[in-house]
Amino acid sequence: MSEPRRILVTGATGTVGRPLVARLLAEGHRVRALVRNPDGGALPHGAEPVRGDLAVSETLSAGAAGADAVFLVWPFATAQGADEAVAALAGEVDRIVYLSSAVADTHPGRPDGAVERLVEAAAPHWTFLRPHGFVANVLRWLPELREAGSVHGAYGQAATAPVHEADLADLAALALTGATGDRDRPVLTGPASLTQTEQLATIAAVVGRDLRRHELTRAEARDRMLAAGWPPDAVDPVLDHQAARVADPERPVSTVARLTGRPARTFADWAADHTGVLLAALGGRAVDETHPLSRTSSI
Ligand SMILES: NC(=O)c1ccc[n+]([C@@H]2O[C@H](COP(=O)([O-])OP(=O)(O)OC[C@H]3O[C@@H](n4cnc5c(N)ncnc54)[C@H](OP(=O)(O)O)[C@@H]3O)[C@@H](O)[C@H]2O)c1
Repeated sequence: MSEPRRILVTGATGTVGRPLVARLLAEGHRVRALVRNPDGGALPHGAEPVRGDLAVSETLSAGAAGADAVFLVWPFATAQGADEAVAALAGEVDRIVYLSSAVADTHPGRPDGAVERLVEAAAPHWTFLRPHGFVANVLRWLPELREAGSVHGAYGQAATAPVHEADLADLAALALTGATGDRDRPVLTGPASLTQTEQLATIAAVVGRDLRRHELTRAEARDRMLAAGWPPDAVDPVLDHQAARVADPERPVSTVARLTGRPARTFADWAADHTGVLLAALGGRAVDETHPLSRTSSI
């Protein structure tokens, strides 16, 4: 176990932040959790909630004061305001671990690359976690599965290697405590590439339900996404990405195993770890609303 540190976690109620807080606490670190609503009750026992907002830099200085390291998420569509936020955090700590993305270098319209550059210029010690998609994104299917027992989509043979959020939390904890490579940008996936159809079948097997997939044409999928409120600019890039993964399946990388010394968690591990949330959502049973993975809209 590493020497106890004082760590500020932003996004502490989110998909990655929540298991990260739990892990850091279990390792004996002091964890301050920056939250917009300290009365929300969604934090693991032992975390110290501090009220703050990533868009209000003064709250970040106050939250980071006295900490050794910060876990940073930037859950916004643009990097607007990130300069002030990063300056405020770097004024208090010398180590920032940023939850970036695998497309940080290739999608300049997203904020990831710009936030990385700000952190690199401001903090002497940093790690940029660059995951491809999260397994938790499959929770987007749940409303449709609950309604009809089936999910509609194009490109069911698109294969991706999504990563379990617990692996991201493990790597973030190692980086925050200085145990993995400093000034590193690890690209992260799960251990295997699975088609969308195989991913749904895995969930169906774990929860013991008959869950089906209905293939749509690209035009049909596009219309459904727009009707569901997807931003028009986002629809074609998402469909293009899926189409590309049919011909060229996402290749898993071994970074999680290399950095943690154990195999990356599988898609089936994720489904097993979240069986309660999946069954509650599929079966109409009351969901623990403080669990971040019950908030499908946040993903
Ligand atoms: N999903 C993917 O496949 C994927 C892939 C690569 C990278 N990423 C990156 O992962 C990041 C999201 O991480 P996540 O999935 O762990 O988070 P998440 O589950 O989407 O939750 C977002 C977190 O940010 C907090 N938050 C939102 N607005 C805030 C504000 N103004 N001030 C303070 N906190 C705020 C939320 O807190 P509240 O409780 O207050 O809402 C919540 O804790 C994004 O930057 C995304 O680009 C995602």
